[in-house]
Order: sequence, then C-alpha cells, then structure tokens
Amino acid sequence: MEKNKLYIPEHVGIIMDGNGRWAKKRGMPRYVGHTYGAQTFRKITRYISKCGVKILTLYAFSTENWKRPPEEVDAIMKIFDQYLVDALTDFRDDDIKVVFIGDKSGFSPRLRKLIEENEEVAKDRKGMLLNIAMNYGSRDEIVRAVKMISQDVLDKKLDVNDINEDTIASRLYTSGQHDPDLIIRTGGEHRLSNFLLYQSAYSEFYSTETLWPDFKNEDFDKAIIEFNKRNRRFGGV
Ligand code: IPE
Ligand code: IPE
Ligand code: MG
Repeated sequence: MEKNKLYIPEHVGIIMDGNGRWAKKRGMPRYVGHTYGAQTFRKITRYISKCGVKILTLYAFSTENWKRPPEEVDAIMKIFDQYLVDALTDFRDDDIKVVFIGDKSGFSPRLRKLIEENEEVAKDRKGMLLNIAMNYGSRDEIVRAVKMISQDVLDKKLDVNDINEDTIASRLYTSGQHDPDLIIRTGGEHRLSNFLLYQSAYSEFYSTETLWPDFKNEDFDKAIIEFNKRNRRFGGV
C-alpha cells in the first residue's frame, strides 16, 4: 500500500467475526476457527502497527459470548491462555503497548494474573496502543461509568450540573483515547454487537464478507482505501 498518499486513521476498531463459520465451512469444529483467528490477530496487529495506526481496539470476546455452549467457551478460554503466555514476549519487538478492556472479574484467577502480567511488561512501551476487548460489552461499560459518576456525586466530588460528555468519556475503558475513526467488521454482518457504542458516534463503519481467519494485510489496505473516500462531516456541512 502506498501509505504516503493515504490518510491513516488514528484509531481503528476491529470486530473479529466469522471464526465459527470459517471452521464449519471446512467441516471442523467451531473452536478450530478461533485457533486460526488467533493467528490472524497476531499477524494483522503487527501490520497495522507498521501502517502507523496509533490505537487499535480488537474485539475478542463480548459480555454476551458466555451464552455459547460451554465446550466452545472453554476452548476460547484455553486459546486466551495460550495467547497470553505467548504475548508476554510477542509484541515486544514492535513496541506495542497491550492493555485489556472489559470486565476482568469474569475470568479465572489464572487468566487475570496473565492479563496483569501482560499489561505490566508492556506498560512502558511507546508504540501502538493495542486495546484487547475481552469480556467487553459497551452497555456494561456505560453502566460502570454511570455508577462511578453517581458515587462521585454522592461523595460531593462532582456537581450534577457539571456532568458533560467528557465526564462520561473519561470513565469509559478508553478514557483519554481518541475516538475510533474506523470500525471494521469481518464476517459480513452489519452491526456493532455491543462494541464501543459511545465512542463510535462518528466512526466510519466498514464491513467485509471475509471471515476473520482469512483476513489479510491486503484486506486491511482495502478498508483504508475505502476510508479515504469517506467524507466525514461530524454533523457539519
Ligand atoms: C468471532 O467469531 C469470535 C468470537 C465471538 C469469540 P464467531 O465465533 O462469532 O464466528 P461466527 O460469527 O459464528 O462465524
Ligand atoms: C461480536 O461477534 C463479538 C466479537 C467478535 C468478539 P458475535 O458473533 O458475538 O456477534 P453477533 O452475535 O453476530 O451479533
Ligand atoms: Mg459471530
């Protein structure tokens, strides 16, 4: 991609969907798709960092995904475990700063410890910020923010009349981060499925039929080229 001619969005979000269908198409159990999806995750993250994106938010597991059959949830947790062990060194050379957004209390003590270790080893890195959304749901995130605001009002740290959009934004997991400019969804659906609802008010949405395990660097390039054709008005003219 001739990146010098294109505007690279500052913050990109990706809804990594289609792992199950990818495996089914090949006559394999759904969880196999998640294993391949994890490989795509690694490769594409490095590529996106090299493209000059400053913040990448990847949707890995939603607060609603616990509804899936226990065998599938277990398989996903095992993949996370393996991923988190590898990730301790994985993105070091690319200087990628990994943080996790979502309700960490939903995970086993072992996973929580691995998550903490990953954040700790990456905390001084200066490259792309990678938000991994795990047990993330935007409604849950907003409820959490409302509780924090209510407590601050009760404690008289905040006056109700001073509540504004920033009061809410600064209590979301993405506090201090530029809103996503572009949200990509693989797997062909045209919905957000509880991803960054507050933050995506003016994000450009790009959907591709490509299933996540098949998503390649060139597919990301296509999304960037399409993004460059969009006319973002933010309600203006
Ligand atoms: C996305 O792939 C990964 C997770 C939600 C964990 P899916 O598992 O939703 O795959 P499809 O959409 O059923 O093909
Ligand atoms: C969204 O995909 C969540 C992730 C990619 C982690 P889903 O497969 O859960 O979404 P729906 O059920 O099709 O809306
Ligand atoms: Mg899906």
